[in-house]
Amino acid sequence: MIRLIYKKIIKPILFLFPADDVHTYFLKKGSLLGRFNFSKSLVKKFFLHKNESLEENVVGIDFTNPIGLAAGFDYDADLIDILPSVGFGFHTIGTVTYLPYAGNPKPMLGRLPQSKSLLVNKGFKSMGLLSVLKKINKRRKEIPLGLSIGSTNQPYKKIEEMIDDICASFQMALREDYFDYFELNISCPNLINVENLKDKFDEPIGLGMLLNKLSYLGINRPLFIKMYLEKSEESTLKLCEVANTYKFVSGFIFSNLVKDRSNPAFDKEEIENAGRGNFSGKPTEKITNNLISAVYKKYKDRFVIIGCGGVFTGADAYEKIKRGATLIQMITGMIYEGPSQIGNINKELATLLKKDGYKNIKEAVGSYK
Ligand SMILES: Cc1cc2nc3c(=O)[nH]c(=O)nc-3n(C[C@H](O)[C@H](O)[C@H](O)COP(=O)(O)O)c2cc1C
Repeated sequence: MIRLIYKKIIKPILFLFPADDVHTYFLKKGSLLGRFNFSKSLVKKFFLHKNESLEENVVGIDFTNPIGLAAGFDYDADLIDILPSVGFGFHTIGTVTYLPYAGNPKPMLGRLPQSKSLLVNKGFKSMGLLSVLKKINKRRKEIPLGLSIGSTNQPYKKIEEMIDDICASFQMALREDYFDYFELNISCPNLINVENLKDKFDEPIGLGMLLNKLSYLGINRPLFIKMYLEKSEESTLKLCEVANTYKFVSGFIFSNLVKDRSNPAFDKEEIENAGRGNFSGKPTEKITNNLISAVYKKYKDRFVIIGCGGVFTGADAYEKIKRGATLIQMITGMIYEGPSQIGNINKELATLLKKDGYKNIKEAVGSYK
């Protein structure tokens, strides 16, 4: 019912306004709703769906359900108080960078409804890590909280400078105990000035340099690397092999955004008219799913896989789980289907697990033969 109201009445109104403004509006409203127990209880009553079969402990962290908010929606930690009531099982803040960056020239967001996709042109917009940490400041969190760290969007002469910038963020974040896990975002497709660098993180040498430097920082919480979408299976496995030598790397998130406009999942007219940026949602789904299968097949339990890309329904999430994902993240499905969809996805997942005879989600991970 709530989903129907969102899709038929609220969404058509919201979609009349620029996507950037609607995003800001939602962050403000979400932050406000999270301040009061009354509004949180009300949201919980309508949205939250709990089920024991969805509870799991992954790399030492307890999750009440496997559906998390992906990096890219709550850049500046505005939604810590409200997201648990909406029904998310975990929540990533960011991507945050060491220094602030106002973002690329507007529009930073766009919609491609026929393609069930969003255009993203933020370029690591961030208020800077110090300001984000001050904002979080010991707030009580109800679900696991992660921080996605990327390099400040500024010109670099060589990769070592970029690595130093990332390490500075980790050093600062590690001093606080707010975060249950970290994400290392190496795969943002719209950063400036990386084209000129000799080594990059999408090659084994560059990624090795980064992980080597990070290995001296004593990262004592699980770290997930946010991976590229448009690398071949072979190149992806080569990057995984580099990570395999570093115990502090707990797993991967597959994947980041689509850059390739010839992706067949796009509506032709929509993609021809799209502005500058990269794309989320359904066009990411198939490639992501194939990468999950390939990496799970090779590494089984060595890496935890977080499946992310084009999840709109419980069946979409279940597909990723059966291919080897232990956890799921999403953004675009929530924008198109409404916030009540998080609870709906959890409900549908629990039904699908039961139908297949699984008592717990962990039994279904990688169950495709
Ligand atoms: C508006 C927007 C901003 C994003 N910004 C980031 C980001 O800062 N860091 C990151 O790792 N991924 C970012 N992403 C990618 C998402 O985390 C996710 O990988 C991608 O959107 C696929 O998931 P979805 O189809 O559920 O949206 C962004 C996505 C969207 C839609």
